[in-house]
Amino acid sequence: MDTLTAPSLALDALVQPDRARTTLYTDPALFEAEMKKVFENTWVWVAHASEIPRPGDFKTAQVGLQPVIVVRDRKGVVHVHVNRCRHRAATVCEVSKGKTSSFVCPYHGWSYALDGSLRGVPYEKGYDGDLDKSQYPLLSLRVEEYNGLIFATFRRDLMPLSDFLGGARKWIDLFMKQGGGFPIRTQGEHRFRFPGNWKIQLENTTDAYHFPLVHKSFLTAADSETEESWDIMNKGGYVEDLGNGHSVMVMMPELVDLEENLDAPIPEKFKALAAELAEEHDEMTVRRIVRAVGGVGFNLNLFPNLGCSAAFFRVLQPIAVDDTEVRHVALGMEGGPAAANRERLRIHEFFQGPMGFGSPDDAEVWDRVQHGAQGGRDLWVLLNRGLSHEEVREDGHRRSDVSAETGMRAAYAQWKRLMEA
Ligand code: FES
Ligand SMILES: [Fe+2]
Repeated sequence: MDTLTAPSLALDALVQPDRARTTLYTDPALFEAEMKKVFENTWVWVAHASEIPRPGDFKTAQVGLQPVIVVRDRKGVVHVHVNRCRHRAATVCEVSKGKTSSFVCPYHGWSYALDGSLRGVPYEKGYDGDLDKSQYPLLSLRVEEYNGLIFATFRRDLMPLSDFLGGARKWIDLFMKQGGGFPIRTQGEHRFRFPGNWKIQLENTTDAYHFPLVHKSFLTAADSETEESWDIMNKGGYVEDLGNGHSVMVMMPELVDLEENLDAPIPEKFKALAAELAEEHDEMTVRRIVRAVGGVGFNLNLFPNLGCSAAFFRVLQPIAVDDTEVRHVALGMEGGPAAANRERLRIHEFFQGPMGFGSPDDAEVWDRVQHGAQGGRDLWVLLNRGLSHEEVREDGHRRSDVSAETGMRAAYAQWKRLMEA
């Protein structure tokens, strides 16, 4: 066999336009390969700008399996450094979030400035002048930002972030309108791990098919208005492939643009909030904020690791072939009314919280997928739902009904392109 074509033939055996092999969830060798070929060859989301608003603010994250530090330097420039001392590889930061003026390695005390440059080496005389500190900065990734979303990549020659996001940019802009006129800020997160492959979670963000089934307890526990608004199978929603592995699932078309329909009646469930806001704000401002509080009516999946899901971020972090960490990041309004931010947290807890009515049910079925995938490893995972009536739009995007598996097809096509490269 021609060795040049062999890898793509092997990948054809793993991913077809309408199906993927079960071993994509279970094969440790594939996991190793995708951590390099996928995560080290694309833009990976690492932070929201509001997580590191001031000089010296930092957070730790990962790009694939590599630990990184996301930090804002004295001039306000964001850097993403590999969290690895240039002496003998210890991490230089083990705190998840904070503020600092430098990073000092705990092992032998090498210290690095916020821009990554090596500044101090204890007992430097022992190197007899041989150590050129300018040659040993922390390794830095390329960093770009779009509408508050900060991404990093190891690739210097990769397309600009804005091209990578492409058709998703419009949806990011719409998503950020849930600031209700204020900038979006993160307001806390909770993490959990599930014993399953990261792609099981990746598939889920634009999977409406499971919603009325897995989330029956959420629908039953919610008030009748909420239950009605989540009757998403009958609302004319759709899923669209936005290119480069990204996709959007529109569940409630009337809540795509939060600045439209401001005259619509205020839902009963937000009447008390509206009354509280009306004490300090004019009617249009109240309507704008109330509409924003409920979040947008769509989920946006940004390949490979960020879901902008209705009213929160879902960040996925692969750990091992059958181990994934998920973070649910609550969002609020920077400088917005306390009552609005409080209400957003309550909505977040109700579905996403550890005791919520949504996420624990999702986690249960993801576990079940990983467990079931131990059987019938030669079988295909089917991704063909909605394919027969999928249409190609003028802009080239493929679109099908809300419960179609168009988003998964988009993600696996991008996975295959990166694995092939
Ligand atoms: S490993 Fe960092 S100073 Fe030695
Ligand atoms: Fe779900």
